[in-house]
Amino acid sequence: MVRRVFIETFGCQMNEVDSGRILTLLGGLGYLQVTDRDEADLILLNTCSIREKASHKVYSAIGALRGWKGHRKGRILAIGGCLAQEAGDEIRRRAPYVDIVFGTHNIASLPEMIRNAETRRRKSVSVEMTGDTRHWDILPCLPEGSVGTMVTIMQGCENYCAYCIVPFVRGPEVSRPAGEIISEIRALSEKGVREVLLLGQNVNSYGKKEGEIAFHRLLRRISDIDGIDRIRFITSHPRDLDEPTIGLFGDLDKLCPHVHLPIQAGSDRILAAMGRGYTREVYLSKVDALRAMRPDIAFSTDFIVGFPGETEDDFRRTIEVMEFVRYDYCFSFKYSPRAGTAAASMDGAASPGDADDRLQRLLALQDLHTAQRLEGMIGKTVEVLVEKPSSRDASRLFGRTGCYKAVNFSSKPGSDPNPFRQVLVEKAGAHSLSGKEA
Ligand code: 5AD
Ligand code: SF4
Repeated sequence: MVRRVFIETFGCQMNEVDSGRILTLLGGLGYLQVTDRDEADLILLNTCSIREKASHKVYSAIGALRGWKGHRKGRILAIGGCLAQEAGDEIRRRAPYVDIVFGTHNIASLPEMIRNAETRRRKSVSVEMTGDTRHWDILPCLPEGSVGTMVTIMQGCENYCAYCIVPFVRGPEVSRPAGEIISEIRALSEKGVREVLLLGQNVNSYGKKEGEIAFHRLLRRISDIDGIDRIRFITSHPRDLDEPTIGLFGDLDKLCPHVHLPIQAGSDRILAAMGRGYTREVYLSKVDALRAMRPDIAFSTDFIVGFPGETEDDFRRTIEVMEFVRYDYCFSFKYSPRAGTAAASMDGAASPGDADDRLQRLLALQDLHTAQRLEGMIGKTVEVLVEKPSSRDASRLFGRTGCYKAVNFSSKPGSDPNPFRQVLVEKAGAHSLSGKEA
């Protein structure tokens, strides 16, 4: 009997890749993916708990599925990912109708849990931090015609930044053997993939614990793979981004000119309290070094405002960094205390009013910088890797430049199988460019 699954992914790219693996596993059990919940026999939420808002969102999504679950006998509700890992018992207490709770280290056990729920109506919880990496062998399901995809190179984090729950929900750092990564990317290139995004919580410490090759060597080896034309990576820790890796930006054509380099705050006092392990000067010197390698390089970052002890003066330093770097885009968040982290017991978080005010000022300045960056590209011809038809106008195409700008454009008549196109930029929107094939 064909059974149907509806999957919803919250949070970051790590979860997206995990959902791809889960879909592969479920395919093996005979499940077809559907986009309408009412058709589903199984609903699976892959959850996030990075900030309180993210956790709330998941709890309300679970609450909203109570009716779905009760509507027909035999329906299965499974909750996985970071919130499940962190608060499995709480989920069961708040929503006893949930059948399966599985953590970030228990993906490989999911088929057995689902079989138990299907046949014996048995509920199960599996949230042990096992260090299990069997899921790495499961290739995330790749939608037909994909030209780009993500590849996990490591999992977990041991930095314990004072505000961050990731080390508690993803566990200690483990790097994947380079040989496996290379084979996976080779196989992807044979399926038509041209761009890979390498994923890890801290890619610059790749392989250090295991005595694997260094991250910059891994990048070189990936760059040697025929058929792969673009390489990106996230996330770089500014402390660990080293000279050889910076040097590659002047050396490897396939390395895209875009770096996501989360600074979090511009004040050394706050960076120290966060336990980030770098000063603003060190951070800015790495930005300069990268720009020296690739003057056209794009930068993006993450900011937290209102961290315990942050004064208006500290915040002004964050603004100064923004002015100095002029990021192409950024993600800005209000500090959210997470139970169990070092910062949760620190006093002096900014009042909600001050945090809001700082957030608004950051967003306004970033909008201005983003607009200036995009406008600066008008009249230039850029190379775009085409991903799909434009969402607003299906007669046009959508893709991204090497520096990660979203571009919608009209193509030349006739069908061209090459997913790389040269596009003349004619207009800049708030977050994307538009143009025509050159
Ligand atoms: N509060 C606010 N923002 C946070 N981030 C991580 N933990 C917290 C928290 N407790 C942000 C950081 C990180 C991004 C993924 O989420 O900026 O880089
Ligand atoms: Fe969290 Fe810091 Fe690890 Fe990033 S490096 S995942 S912010 S603990």
